[in-house]
Amino acid sequence: MSGATVAVVIATVPSAVELRAMLDAERRTGRTVGFVPTMGALHAGHASLVRAASAADVVVVSVFVNPLQFAPSEDLAAYPRSLDADVAVAAESGASIVFAPDEQEMYPGGRDSVLTTVAVPALAATMEGASRPTHFAGVCTVVAKLLNVVGPCTAYFGEKDFQQLAVIRRMVADLSFPVEVIGCPTLREPDGLALSSRNVYLSAEERAVAPVLQRALRAGAEAVAGGQRGADEVRSLMASIIEAAPLGALDYVEVADPTSLEALSVLTGPCRLFGAVRFGRTRLIDNVAAVPGGVR
Ligand code: PAF
Repeated sequence: MSGATVAVVIATVPSAVELRAMLDAERRTGRTVGFVPTMGALHAGHASLVRAASAADVVVVSVFVNPLQFAPSEDLAAYPRSLDADVAVAAESGASIVFAPDEQEMYPGGRDSVLTTVAVPALAATMEGASRPTHFAGVCTVVAKLLNVVGPCTAYFGEKDFQQLAVIRRMVADLSFPVEVIGCPTLREPDGLALSSRNVYLSAEERAVAPVLQRALRAGAEAVAGGQRGADEVRSLMASIIEAAPLGALDYVEVADPTSLEALSVLTGPCRLFGAVRFGRTRLIDNVAAVPGGVR
């Protein structure tokens, strides 16, 4: 015996009707469903979501590069696609079903034929939404469709995309999906860079400086913990650290309420610090929690 764990994915399902039937049958026998929606290119961060979802009896991972959430100028065509490797990562991490629909399955008639979209404008207008105005409606629309196919479940999303997590939580609550949304902590490289499918785009030089985003956010959080109450001062500190590093172009830094995502001016309670930086053609985002010194 080698001691190695051999995981078996019991099904790779391309059909929404088939997946719904399988999961309905599982639920009829009292089994619970955990769901991890992804766009593939699975890395250790996704694996940690799948492991968390393994608290359920049946774990479904969806792999679908959703065209609706990419602007025409963005990296849809270049987005990394690796279904065989994704199935292996999903299986090793505890998934039992990989749902891998093609575009026709998700958008019969094609992406341009979709007339109904879901949007949460109050949470989606700032930060990522300001830089990518159509992004969150694309995310919400596909996640709503996926949740309708998967049905009652616990769904897992990474805190790396914290604004996405907040938007989806709100959509699920407002539209009464029978779904519990769980946010999971960001996984990082040893130098602090958040794991992301887009890290593969970085050149060696860009990869070397990319952790500056995390360093800037950490410095902001330390300033808050140390007593800084002015959000503008924290924004300036974070921006100056990013701007002092080579190769990166600052997109935004923000200090916001962790639930409403409203930009803050005076810091009196727990807040979230956000940033986005472009390294060449790669746009990286990250965020950290911050608690003013003396506040619990
Ligand atoms: O976070 C992602 O990978 C995507 O935005 C999601 C939630 C799978 C929707 O396409």
